[in-house]
Amino acid sequence: MNDKELVARHAAALVQDGMLVGLGTGSTANYFIDELARRRNEEGLKVTTAASSVVSTIKARELGLPLVSIEHLSRLDLYVDGADEVTPEMVLLKGRGSDLVREKLMAKASDKFLVLVDQSKLVGRIGEKFPIPVEVMPFAWQLARRTLESLGGRGSLRQNASKDGLAVTSHGSLVLDMTFEPTLGSKMLDEMLNATPGVVEHGIFRGLASAVFIAENGRVQERLASVY
Ligand code: A5P
Repeated sequence: MNDKELVARHAAALVQDGMLVGLGTGSTANYFIDELARRRNEEGLKVTTAASSVVSTIKARELGLPLVSIEHLSRLDLYVDGADEVTPEMVLLKGRGSDLVREKLMAKASDKFLVLVDQSKLVGRIGEKFPIPVEVMPFAWQLARRTLESLGGRGSLRQNASKDGLAVTSHGSLVLDMTFEPTLGSKMLDEMLNATPGVVEHGIFRGLASAVFIAENGRVQERLASVY
């Protein structure tokens, strides 16, 4: 079993009968979905799920997990997802995929948000390994980028996987992958991006994680937020 699968199973073991559980997106979230379906089939776990992306919706449906769509949600018991970066303060960078808006909505709407990572995702500061994904309304991308450039940001529109066009999110937005001066902290970056007109959402998740589960060499370490 690899570390992503290990940490996903660790989280799935915490799901209890009757819970409404948000399903994240990505390879770690996929392991979680697999394990949840296994528990439902083999242990009779009673669970309802909501997915943060089309990909996770399809996977959950194929595995027979009961699904409700996000339009019908007012809250979740639990949201479980991976991340691209995690700081010591439990600030996350997400959004390598195309489903940032739903991911942040669900993280905010859940009583507990569990973040599943392996050791490679731990960083000293947000933006250390990856640019910050900034989802922008298509007509606003130049003006939004100009605002971010005036704050020291540099970046360009994300290309699609085959590099012959632009990446378009599930909601029809474009994505600016931006880098900023390392001296800018995540609080400042979060506030700057929140205040930029034309920005739909961005990949900094601050004050949302209840716990980060970190897998390393076959063991899981739990880092809990003070409000867990
Ligand atoms: C999805 O948009 C992303 O935020 C993923 O949650 C993140 O990239 C982690 O992906 P892996 O679990 O595949 O590493």
